[in-house]
Amino acid sequence: MSSVSRREVLAGVCGIAALSVAGIPEASASAVKKLSGGRLSVNVGALPALKEVGSSVRVGSVKGQQVGLTRTGPSTFIAFSLACPHQGVTVSRSDTGWKCNAHGSEFDALGELTLGPATTRLPQIKTRVSGSNVIIG
Ligand code: FES
Repeated sequence: MSSVSRREVLAGVCGIAALSVAGIPEASASAVKKLSGGRLSVNVGALPALKEVGSSVRVGSVKGQQVGLTRTGPSTFIAFSLACPHQGVTVSRSDTGWKCNAHGSEFDALGELTLGPATTRLPQIKTRVSGSNVIIG
């Protein structure tokens, strides 16, 4: 392989890596505050990644569990643990929702199971909307 083609290959790999990172929406730290009791307050108005109904982001940790938050309507949201119900591995964003890279379980943006070996959805976590904030936990 010539050095030019190696460069082209590396540029392609880096481009794919950059797209992959950009495709994983993460809540910005300034929009998320820790509350007492391990709860989170998420300022959804400050998160462009949650602007559209059906959009979903990882917002951080609630009581030691990584949590995903999905907009289900203009002012409604669902939160769920990102611990795969199969063996507890943290799931990652996918094109259609969430995916566990350990054994391939898949979940839609609402956390509903779409492909095993997991047998249940991602465990739901209580939410409450307060102004432009969603309180999780
Ligand atoms: S731990 Fe997620 S599919 Fe096994």
